[in-house]
Amino acid sequence: GLPARVRIHEVGARDGLQNEKGAVPTAVKAEFVHRLAGAGLTTIEATSFVHPKWVPQLADAEELFPQLADVAADLPVLVPNERGLDRALALGARRIAVFGSATETFASRNLNRTVAESLTMFEPVVARAKEGDAHVRGYLSMCFGDPWEGPVPVHQVVSVAKALLDLGCDELSLGDTIGVATPGHVQALLAALNEAGVTTDRIGVHFHDTYGQALSNTLAALQHGVTTVDASAGGLGGCPYAKSATGNLATEDLVWMLDGLGIETGVDLAALTATSVWMAEQLGRPSPSRTVRALSHK
Ligand code: HMG
Ligand code: MG
Repeated sequence: GLPARVRIHEVGARDGLQNEKGAVPTAVKAEFVHRLAGAGLTTIEATSFVHPKWVPQLADAEELFPQLADVAADLPVLVPNERGLDRALALGARRIAVFGSATETFASRNLNRTVAESLTMFEPVVARAKEGDAHVRGYLSMCFGDPWEGPVPVHQVVSVAKALLDLGCDELSLGDTIGVATPGHVQALLAALNEAGVTTDRIGVHFHDTYGQALSNTLAALQHGVTTVDASAGGLGGCPYAKSATGNLATEDLVWMLDGLGIETGVDLAALTATSVWMAEQLGRPSPSRTVRALSHK
């Protein structure tokens, strides 16, 4: 059966904006996050405390995060290492996310580390975050296919997933970084994780829509019992260190499907669409989301 309620983990302000060519003004980002919360989103990934040279689009994290103090939502932030954790904790972040890779090539390109070295880098980050009672998400990228290595074997994903959870991560987000997954592959990975002792209640899914499969993949995950789904308002996004990655599953497309299925999200689709239309104006190009286009067509 399908769940009664889904928690949407909104990533537009982070995964979306990290990939913009031009610099988005900090004030626009702050208004974006406020509007997302106003539309009913309760988990809004705000920014990343990564090296500013690696992701210049999010180099204003210190300026932005304090401007979100009045936002009535959880505001997780990406943190790759202890330096990033220090920066996030200094501003009062209560939820952090480390981000690992199932493949060596992406670990090297995204983190300048091997998979094993990146786990070693995360270990004190997760331990210190947990000591301070912060919530820790563990992202795992390239769970289905990798642009350099091709299809990624399920057992390889399961082994890094278990390693991330063994560090103490509260939840795991399975990333289809380049959007090549299909529903059967999603169910095979979820089944293999369950068999390895990873229960579905700790798993979220993070689909990119490159091949138009993100919604089908989401439905397959929901049928398997997943209730945490990542999505990006307006379908913004991509990853600067993964060639051929396009935007995430659009939050509006997700909410349209979930509304139709009678699954609760707490999101006001009209307010969310208006937010993405406004953001598209700020960015100077239309949203790729079919639902945004349909609902904003006059
Ligand atoms: P590195 O070059 O190996 O860094 O990069 P390092 O550890 O050698 O340190 C070099 C210098 O950088 C030092 O300064 C550090 O202090 C400084 P120095 O002592 O030489 O003056 N430094 C920092 N400064 C500020 N904040 C920091 C920080 N860390 C080091 N956090 C590093 C390693 C991990 C830092 C780098 O590779 C990096 O920042 N990578 C981030 C890449 C990224 O953000 N990618 C996008 C997010 S992942 C994604 O989008 C996928 C996802 O959506 C899921 C999916 O779709 O699959 C999550
Ligand atoms: Mg992503």
